[in-house]
Amino acid sequence: MTAIRIDGNVLAAKVRDRIAAEVSALKARGVTPGLAVVLVGEDAASQVYVRNKVAACAKVGMHSVMHKLPAATTEAELLALIDSLNRDATIHGILVQLPLPKHIAEKKVLEAVAAHKDVDGFHAENVGALMIGEPRFVSCTPAGCMEMLRDIGMTDLRGKHAVVVGRSNIVGKPMAMLLLHANATVTICHSGTKDLAAQCRQADILVAAVGRPRFIKADMVKPGAVVIDVGINRLPESEGGKLVGDVDFDAVNEVAGYLTPVPGGVGPMTITMLLQNTLVAANRA
Ligand code: GUN
Repeated sequence: MTAIRIDGNVLAAKVRDRIAAEVSALKARGVTPGLAVVLVGEDAASQVYVRNKVAACAKVGMHSVMHKLPAATTEAELLALIDSLNRDATIHGILVQLPLPKHIAEKKVLEAVAAHKDVDGFHAENVGALMIGEPRFVSCTPAGCMEMLRDIGMTDLRGKHAVVVGRSNIVGKPMAMLLLHANATVTICHSGTKDLAAQCRQADILVAAVGRPRFIKADMVKPGAVVIDVGINRLPESEGGKLVGDVDFDAVNEVAGYLTPVPGGVGPMTITMLLQNTLVAANRA
C-alpha cells in the first residue's frame, strides 16, 4: 500500500483564499490586519522563515512590518521594541522569531508580547488557555497539523491513539493538548522514552517533531496510520543538501495510510495558521 499524500500547499491555498476574503471584508470596515515580525541576528533558516511569513501576509492583503535587529541587540532594546509594538494600534499580531541569541532571555521576551497580540501562542496565558480547553491563540504548527487531520475527515479522534514524538513548547506539548481535546488517547514520547519504536507502532496518528532527519523508520509505523511530519532538516552537502523531514519518507510511504511530505506539508500550514491568528486578533481588536 502507498500512503495518500496530505498536500500542505493545496490545503494552505484553500484556507488562504478564505482568509484573503475575510481580510477584504475587514478592510471594507476600515481595519487592515497588521503583523509585526521581529528577527534578531543572522540565523539563515530564520531569515527564510520570516521572509516567507511577510510575503504570505502581503498575498492575503495584510499589512506587515519586519524588524531586523543585529545579533548584538540587548534584551532591553528588544523589550523596548515589543513595548512599542504592543501599543501600536496598526499592529494586531507580534511574532518574535526563535531562536533568540543566547544573551537574551527567551521567556522574558515571550511574556512581554501582549497576550492579545501573541499570534504565535507562546505567552503563558495562551498556553494555559489551551491547557484548560479554552484556546485563544494556539501555536501555529500544531494548529496546522490539526487542520490537516480535519481535512482528511479526522475531527473526532475518540478511540484513536495518537503518539507525538517530541516535547517542545512550540510543537510537541501543544500538539498533544489539541489531540487530547479532540478526544484522542495521547502518548508523548521523547529522547528518554524506552522502546520508542513500540510506542510509535501503537499510533493511529503519529506526529514526528524531533528535529532529526529521517528518524521515523517504516518499522515504527502501524500499517495504515496517519503520519504527520513536522521536521524540516537540511541534509549536509555530502548527502545532497536537500530538505528532509523527521520521517524516512520513501520507506514510511509504503506502510502509512496518510503521509505529509517535506517540503510542502506542515510548513505551508504553519504560515497559514499565523495568518489565521492575525486575522482573529484584528477581528477582536
Ligand atoms: N521558530 C521555529 N518555529 C517558530 C514559530 O512557529 N514561531 C516563531 N516565532 N519562531 C519559531
